[in-house]
Amino acid sequence: MRHDHLITSKQLSRADIETVLDRAAEIDADPSAVADRHANRLLGLLFFEPSTRTKMSFETAMKRLGGDVVDMGSVESSSVKKGETLADTVRVIEGYADALVLRHPKQGAATMASEFVDVPLLNAGDGAGHHPTQTLLDLYTIRENAGLDDLTIGIMGDLKYGRTVHSLAYALTNFDARQHFVSPESLQLPREVVYDLHQAEGAGIREHESLEEVLPSLDVLYVTRIQRERFPDEQEYQKVAGEYQIDVETLEAASDDLTIMHPLPRVDEIAPAIDETEYAAYFEQAHNGVPVRMALLDLFLQEGGDGDE
Ligand code: NCD
Repeated sequence: MRHDHLITSKQLSRADIETVLDRAAEIDADPSAVADRHANRLLGLLFFEPSTRTKMSFETAMKRLGGDVVDMGSVESSSVKKGETLADTVRVIEGYADALVLRHPKQGAATMASEFVDVPLLNAGDGAGHHPTQTLLDLYTIRENAGLDDLTIGIMGDLKYGRTVHSLAYALTNFDARQHFVSPESLQLPREVVYDLHQAEGAGIREHESLEEVLPSLDVLYVTRIQRERFPDEQEYQKVAGEYQIDVETLEAASDDLTIMHPLPRVDEIAPAIDETEYAAYFEQAHNGVPVRMALLDLFLQEGGDGDE
């Protein structure tokens, strides 16, 4: 893998993805082999938006590699409150850390920030833009449960504002995957994303308003939360809130081998009764965040910072 930063999944080739997933599998099989690998290295955490899984799994990953983290803390308690620009904040924190992880409410923030730093910067979500590290753990989970070849996947929910969806959709164009996008019309994928996906060689994509017509054909159903915080108007959110939920009854039409995924947090999209079924893979998916982020950090922290081994 030869990248200075990880900003979107568009930059990842199939070979890059396989490098990360293979390394994650190796680490998962024997985490003790890398327990001191990055001793004395520091990862800077800059989260300008709430996060539980992403932040904690990056922190766990760095500590399990023998390193440690320095955390900007909440926006409320940082100099951002005094009006410091993102460019200044990242330039200061790169002096403290060997790599940076950034989450920010503005789309494009990671690209902009990366232009000001020399250490690797990993985008942990930029507004409704991208979330490539989530995509890698999603792909890892798909590979473990359904395989990435000859895959039929349904991606349902908030396709407009869901950054995990955008990143996953681009990454899947590297594989032999048919992608079915299921959402209300108002939350369809942004047209530029649809355009890009159609341009990708061999990518099979279709859009639907109802899950019913595609459910029986799916290997994987990737459910997402309606991104309330990104709606310009609360009334618009109320119109679609509560749509596109699944329960045990919905799944009567599904294949026995269906794998259900969700980047979490869920609100009410997946009935808790599904958690106890063989379909549910979302907690396993969240756990996969640690080996996958360990693999990524390991690759990016290699000497020279270009992740090349
Ligand atoms: C997602 C995110 O922040 O984009 N969460 C995550 O990183 N696992 C999904 C979401 O907030 O709905």
